[in-house]
Amino acid sequence: MTKTVLITGASSGMGRALAFEFAARGYHLGLAARRLDLLAQLRDEVQARYADPARRIEIVALDVDQSAAVAPTLRPLFAALGTVDIVVVNAGVNRFTPVGRGELAQAAQLIQTNLIGAIASAEAAIEHFLAQGAGQLVGISSLASLQAIPKQGAYCASKAGFSMYLDAARMELKRKNIAVCRILPGFVLTEIMPKMEKYPFAVSAELAAREAVSLIEQRKTVGVVPAYPWRWLRPFFGHIPDALWRKLA
Ligand SMILES: NC(=O)c1ccc[n+]([C@@H]2O[C@H](COP(=O)([O-])OP(=O)(O)OC[C@H]3O[C@@H](n4cnc5c(N)ncnc54)[C@H](OP(=O)(O)O)[C@@H]3O)[C@@H](O)[C@H]2O)c1
Repeated sequence: MTKTVLITGASSGMGRALAFEFAARGYHLGLAARRLDLLAQLRDEVQARYADPARRIEIVALDVDQSAAVAPTLRPLFAALGTVDIVVVNAGVNRFTPVGRGELAQAAQLIQTNLIGAIASAEAAIEHFLAQGAGQLVGISSLASLQAIPKQGAYCASKAGFSMYLDAARMELKRKNIAVCRILPGFVLTEIMPKMEKYPFAVSAELAAREAVSLIEQRKTVGVVPAYPWRWLRPFFGHIPDALWRKLA
């Protein structure tokens, strides 16, 4: 039977690439983000590319910063889609938040989006999965959840926090037929930060999405994208010399 995936932050970057990748594999799509015009454009592009009249694509405007409104906003989308097999909590932001420069408001805003907003989205997904008796929750965390990066302390904290939430959820939900997966991207060429190309082993959103969807379909608990070279370097994360990371900052 055709599966259905709901993706937050689908209007650009990896979320958009994930939508195309899932569509290529035949899924129905639920797409959420603030920029509804881009979601409508994405829906039209997917329909034009795959020309599958049976495919359902539902879109909704969602601002995860309004955390109390996330579940009420997503409920009608779940209802419109019927059974939703996978929810990918992908929406996120990044910006430099150097320490000691009075950037608390920026750091708090980032944590609101990446941690509180992500947890609010995950909670809405879990509520739906519990009601339908099955599901797979996927969180787009980051390799930055494992390794501090200078001037990105708030981002690293948000992703480490989200990874911990996902791990706890995985343990709690194991007996409820709900799988939890966290995807840890390395550096992906998107608009999330300027000059992404200067970071090591940066890959296209399409490649990251292709590998991520394969890991999701294998129902991995944790997956690193791109696999090369990060899968082999991952054990060293948290132990890499400070000087190396300072060069990246
Ligand atoms: N690019 C990388 O190197 C990299 C590495 C590791 C992890 N990640 C993670 O991957 C995810 C996707 O990032 P990306 O690189 O694809 O960046 P992106 O191109 O900037 O996309 C971010 C997406 O998140 C959505 N978003 C942002 N704030 C939102 C909010 N308040 N409410 C709802 N949606 C919101 C945006 O949609 P709207 O603006 O339309 O709302 C957009 O669709 C993020 O969680 C990011 O932390 C990225």
